[in-house]
Amino acid sequence: MPLSRRRLLTSAGIGAAGIGLGAGGYLVGHNDADAAETEGTERVAFDGEHQAGISTPVPNRLHFASFDLETESRDELREMLEKWTVAAREMTEGKMIGDYAGNHTELAPPEDTGEAFELPASNLTITFGFGPSIFDRPGLGLSSQKPAALKPLPPLPGDELNALESDGDICVQACADDPQVVFHAIRNLARIGRGTVTMRWSQLGFGRTSTTSREETTPRNLFGMKDGTANIKAEDQKAMDEYVWVDEGPDWMEGGSYLVSRRIRMVLEVWDRSSLQDQEETIGRSKYSGAPLGEENEFDPLPLEEKGLDGKPVIPANAHVRLASAQENGGIRILRRGYSFTDGVDQSLGELEAGLFFIAFQKDPEKQFVALQEKLGVHDALNEYIHHVGSALFAVPAGTKPGGYVAESLFS
Ligand code: HEM
Repeated sequence: MPLSRRRLLTSAGIGAAGIGLGAGGYLVGHNDADAAETEGTERVAFDGEHQAGISTPVPNRLHFASFDLETESRDELREMLEKWTVAAREMTEGKMIGDYAGNHTELAPPEDTGEAFELPASNLTITFGFGPSIFDRPGLGLSSQKPAALKPLPPLPGDELNALESDGDICVQACADDPQVVFHAIRNLARIGRGTVTMRWSQLGFGRTSTTSREETTPRNLFGMKDGTANIKAEDQKAMDEYVWVDEGPDWMEGGSYLVSRRIRMVLEVWDRSSLQDQEETIGRSKYSGAPLGEENEFDPLPLEEKGLDGKPVIPANAHVRLASAQENGGIRILRRGYSFTDGVDQSLGELEAGLFFIAFQKDPEKQFVALQEKLGVHDALNEYIHHVGSALFAVPAGTKPGGYVAESLFS
């Protein structure tokens, strides 16, 4: 039986049913109190109508990985997805992976790598998706199941993409409150998939840059601006149905969504030398309150028609929020769920290699993300401070039933 990570040691010496000492010297076993221990706000259900990690509240840590498939065998792919689902369910419940007791011989590597041992579930969500390329592999026989909306993103204005940080056959997004928990999730899924998939690229994120729930306070991005204010919130079921959840296309995608990721470098040193007025006019919001320029409060509507004494719009014509707002886009909206990152130093500039790992969920990438970026990439004042260096698109299937596995109906 899988063990609760946190429960494992605290159960020692209390004589709980089923506790014993394995050959490797670890405590093994299970008792019903394990389940109760991690219940509460720190655990997000893995199974459900939709995969967790889209509309569920955004915790502060991300590990995102993109994998390439190394097999042309449909059965091998399906078997890996079955194993991944079992492991993901265990990890999101705060348990160790696998039949820990049965596996505990000193002669074999432990089934779980162990670094999340004693850590609680930490709101871990694990979300799986499939890139366009996986449907084009003749051996898998999946081409008839490829959704029309899963077309590779076209070249977009402002693209400076690095192929090594882009695309992939399968993605796994792990989000949690604890960086070790998300690392553990990706590491163990990669281990289980060894031989079937290889990791193409991965990204750690250290702070959320959006909210998906009215319960969450708006975080700040690396430009020091509140980010996520006008995002779609899960409580707005109508908006979720209209813009996020897929309701047509192959059966396996109904209730799913399309994930676009963009690794966006933010040129912090140039931003930091810009005046407060420039910074606020670039975004179209006040830096500290997050209110739209010309307004008092964060959640006030954008005064898009208002002009200042000089006759110019209070929110400039090229301000990010004006260009990105549904009011000026024929109604386009997306669900943003990105994270700040930093990966050492950009040696060519001698400055932090840092930015936004942008993640957006939507019903139709071409009509939503692509249409938005075609406009932003040309006109956005923010372009002076950012570079899009990585890009990927994945179809994220609907959620799993208890006992089922990810994308089951794709294989049945
Ligand atoms: C590093 C790059 C980016 C930064 C720093 C950034 C920052 C911000 C900030 C501070 C806001 C205002 C607060 C809010 O409503 O969330 C905002 C809004 C928004 N951004 Fe971005 N953003 C970036 C890239 C993008 C991209 C690539 C897209 C889509 C293609 C996008 C789409 C939006 C949308 C739809 C809004 C809401 C506009 C509204 O309705 O008011 N952003 N962004």
